[in-house]
Amino acid sequence: MADRLRVGLVFGGRSGEHEVSVVSARSVAAALDRDRYEVVPMAIGRNGRWADAGTADRVLRSSGDRPDKVVQFDGRLGLDPRLVERAVDVVIPILHGPFGEDGTIQGLCEMLDLPYVGCNVAASAVTMDKVLSKRLFLQAGLSTPRFEAITARQWGSERIRCEARGLALGLPVFVKPSRLGSSVGISKVKDVNMLAAAIELALGYDDLVIVEEGIPAREIEVAVLEGDPPVASVPGEIVPGHEFYDYADKYLDDSCRLLAPAPLDASQSAEVRKLALAGFAALGAEGMARVDFLLDTRSGRFLLSELNSIPGFTSISMYPRLLGLSGVSYPELLDRLVSLARARHARRRRFADAALRPLSERAK
Ligand SMILES: Nc1ncnc2c1ncn2[C@@H]1O[C@H](COP(=O)(O)OP(=O)(O)O)[C@@H](O)[C@H]1O
Ligand SMILES: [Mg+2]
Repeated sequence: MADRLRVGLVFGGRSGEHEVSVVSARSVAAALDRDRYEVVPMAIGRNGRWADAGTADRVLRSSGDRPDKVVQFDGRLGLDPRLVERAVDVVIPILHGPFGEDGTIQGLCEMLDLPYVGCNVAASAVTMDKVLSKRLFLQAGLSTPRFEAITARQWGSERIRCEARGLALGLPVFVKPSRLGSSVGISKVKDVNMLAAAIELALGYDDLVIVEEGIPAREIEVAVLEGDPPVASVPGEIVPGHEFYDYADKYLDDSCRLLAPAPLDASQSAEVRKLALAGFAALGAEGMARVDFLLDTRSGRFLLSELNSIPGFTSISMYPRLLGLSGVSYPELLDRLVSLARARHARRRRFADAALRPLSERAK
């Protein structure tokens, strides 16, 4: 038992998906093989501060398996001291949205020289940023809905031009903060007169906004797991219960349906799996990502929508479910993610050592 790997399971956080994160962390903790892993719960409060060890443990244990059954707590610490002391061997960040999924916790782990599961700093930041993601999709020759990026500064100084750029995409358009998630701040604009208000709403969450052509589409998702070769799961489908897959649909009511596998024919399924791997590579993703598509019902084409570098990990979440259907069980998935994290850390340490070698030595 002495050589069990100590896994720092980081959950909670200051995003709108705080509760989902706690529920996900509970599933992860339950699936980790106790003969091989010692779970070290680490919790971040809604206030952005970290809980002490006792509180983190209690929140993980006493919460239920639904977002509305999560124990509320306040963090009091600037940082969990067990990270600084490197009292864990690997970190599994289960944080959704800003301040977790966006490169921030990944950067913290890099500074502390700790291996961590999932995308590196750059890929986390890129996948969180819809504008950057789409620019990279296009550069890789991958299809994505047409879009315009609008900064707060442009909106302030050339509002009419910004509106014209958005309207040139044709209605309806979707207006979104570039770096958020859970559909917060997103509007579907069907009426010219509603565009300005939608942009202003989105600017309340980020100073970069994306206006995207609305696609009449089915929503298809593929789970990707890094490996040699990488796994692209069977596709799943989201059938929104509302006008689009909005916040209420995701977290408040049970009106949307998740179909796994998605009802697609064999060639569509093969195509979207291939595109998922291409999207993963285009953004430099590592470890895991759920790759989301819009299947344009007019053209039958798959358009890349976004990558989620820390997808939901609850027992009913798409990511583990789709991999399960593809022959990778939940415990096996976690094993693979942890070993990928440790292998990357070892690799990067060699690079760092090489870079730090004094010039005089390098010349030899
Ligand atoms: N271009 C689009 N065309 C059609 N529907 C869209 C488009 N963009 C977003 N949506 C709808 O809005 C939802 C949320 O948008 P998404 O870009 O996935 O943001 P988030 O990061 O918040 O999940 C999608 O699941 C989909 O239902
Ligand atoms: Mg989405």
